[in-house]
Amino acid sequence: MKTVAIINLKGGVAKTTTAVSLAELLAEGDKRRKRPGSRVLLFDNDKQGNASRIFGTYEREQEAGACRIIKTGRIAGNIRDTEVENMDIVTCNYFMELAELEIKADTVNTQHGRYKSALGEIDGKYDFCIIDNPPDLGMNVINAMVAADEIIIPVCLDAYSLDGLEELVEQINQIRALNPKTRLAGVLITDYEKSDTSEAAESWIRAKSGCPVFSQKIRHSKKAKDATFYRLTPLHYSIRSGAAQDYKAFAAEYVQKFGGPAAGERS
Ligand SMILES: Nc1ncnc2c1ncn2[C@@H]1O[C@H](COP(=O)(O)OP(=O)(O)OP(=O)(O)O)[C@@H](O)[C@H]1O
Ligand SMILES: [Mg+2]
Repeated sequence: MKTVAIINLKGGVAKTTTAVSLAELLAEGDKRRKRPGSRVLLFDNDKQGNASRIFGTYEREQEAGACRIIKTGRIAGNIRDTEVENMDIVTCNYFMELAELEIKADTVNTQHGRYKSALGEIDGKYDFCIIDNPPDLGMNVINAMVAADEIIIPVCLDAYSLDGLEELVEQINQIRALNPKTRLAGVLITDYEKSDTSEAAESWIRAKSGCPVFSQKIRHSKKAKDATFYRLTPLHYSIRSGAAQDYKAFAAEYVQKFGGPAAGERS
């Protein structure tokens, strides 16, 4: 199983939109490119529970799966079905805040390797685990980074995101000490609108940031935002929208570049 964490410390840069779209596209496969569907686990690691809500699995009253996993390091009993064929989900909700406080107080067991050992239990059951993260660097995000084979960083092209990127890459490099296997698959430019400044920002990010950047960018499209009102992914809300089409092309690029097994599984 390949674990991919979608990360950015900045809010609202399309982390969730990217995570749910990539998960769904990997699960669906691509008939035109003759790629069969993969078995996908979508792991919602954000207490806002946006990814869980999109798939109708948000739990208001009781502790969600991700909270139990970070407390116990075990995944059994914490995976739920979705209506998408080949795709299951680990849900998250506001109980994550309490769970984080609880594990911070635990000085006996390691705090950062809990997702890694939990996901180790289901290696072989899924082809991909896609982790959607909150815009911070809490212990649950560190757990996701330690468990990840690859990291994808969605960015919107504004000065704040570009500033935050340098900081994030620094953090990823520090986490590499805990998991040297983690690699930055690439930066994904999201919510893109053509203008002189966005073109300049794109040139900078591609030439000067030092990060790999996916060729495919995701266009701004009103339908992507509208989709959230119906709790749908952009693909399900309007497959014809620019964003849905771009996510399809991005998934194809991702699979072409990184679609193979995780580093540890290569023979
Ligand atoms: N390509 C796009 N075009 C237009 N709107 C978009 C696009 N991608 C995402 N959005 C919208 O931008 C908002 C933020 O997206 P999303 O929730 O995916 O970001 P996020 O990084 O997960 O946010 P948070 O940090 O709060 O978790 C949402 O309303 C979403 O529908
Ligand atoms: Mg989000």
